Amino acid sequence: MANRRKLVVGNWKMNGRLTSGLNLAKDVADKASAQKPLAFDVVLCPPATLIWPVAEVVAGSPVMLGAQNGHAANHGAYTGEISAGMLADLGCRYVILGHSERRAAQGETSAMVAEKIAAAQLAGLIAILCVGETQEQRASGAAETAVARQVSESLPEKFDASKLVVAYEPVWAIGSGELPTLDDIRRIHKAIRKTLGPVGEMVQVLYGGSVAPSNAGPILAEPEVDGVLVGSASLNSDGFWAIAEKCR
Ligand code: 13P
Repeated sequence: MANRRKLVVGNWKMNGRLTSGLNLAKDVADKASAQKPLAFDVVLCPPATLIWPVAEVVAGSPVMLGAQNGHAANHGAYTGEISAGMLADLGCRYVILGHSERRAAQGETSAMVAEKIAAAQLAGLIAILCVGETQEQRASGAAETAVARQVSESLPEKFDASKLVVAYEPVWAIGSGELPTLDDIRRIHKAIRKTLGPVGEMVQVLYGGSVAPSNAGPILAEPEVDGVLVGSASLNSDGFWAIAEKCR
């Protein structure tokens, strides 16, 4: 099996002000620096307003920076949008794309996500593609096919597997406290790798949805799981680091 490094990503979503965000980032950076060299990778994805100040706080620590969205175009008349090139300019290494909250609330289609991934990779960013089945798809036994389809439709025709991470985030598990069984996670992760084809063994596949310090251990011990994408539990540095340490 390919030797894939574990990756822990904190998605702060629309949370954090200047003071609270910088305190959180500094705490995480301090914990990471205390364990240098880290045996796993850590990425913080603050809201766009905090990317630059957080970049200054995590500089010199092993913590890497990511964004929660990026536009498909490089620049131009797109009021309110931020391009992948702008994110790279601020020091971002990663960008989350196709999160189910954006697919649902902003009407992002897989075709739009594919364009964003192409733009992100062109700008040198690692795209974290989010996929996951709805409760209805799960109930009808269609989770695997729904996720596989989302993966293939959300990838551009030509993509760089070395700049791709896939996060399996069942929509019903996000913010609900409910999690799939380890068997289910393993099965869907394998289906994702199969959909990716020969490069599937080198792409990190993360799990996301209600990850907490209390449940992260067995998830991260699963060889098919290359890390976690953490929402609400990433807003507390002790909790987030307790999750990250389960990578060791
Ligand atoms: P929660 O960890 O809050 O369930 O959110 C998961 C998520 O959506 C991360 O992108």
